[in-house]
Amino acid sequence: MKGVKRFGVSLEEELLKSLDSIVKGNSFPNRSQAIRFLIRNHNVKEKWEKNKEVAGSIILVYDHHKRELISRSMDIQHDYHDCILSSQHVHLGRHNCLELIALRGKASKLRELADKLIALKGMKHGELVASSID
Ligand code: NI
Repeated sequence: MKGVKRFGVSLEEELLKSLDSIVKGNSFPNRSQAIRFLIRNHNVKEKWEKNKEVAGSIILVYDHHKRELISRSMDIQHDYHDCILSSQHVHLGRHNCLELIALRGKASKLRELADKLIALKGMKHGELVASSID
């Protein structure tokens, strides 16, 4: 692989067991892939904690007959228009709708937006997924 550096890692037996269980649990092909995953996760977490600019998405599930909820959700989303890159609406069936909102902005602002949407009365499910922009 281009630009890949090799290095030796010394680990206590217990930590190595933990690493191997991460490899197994996530079906990583090898330990290197698990270490990449852990480092990236750490970087994302750190960016969120330091309130840096991050990317993410919110997934929402709600009953489309709940007009009040939809109208409140739209009001909130308009208040945060500067963080919303796009949104996609999927009709899951006769009643349920799935909404995917792609975001970019300060971590605290994305968290705030997600909390407001997820807390809306009648929201069936809501989750914020965090990522970094680099
Ligand atoms: Ni729908």
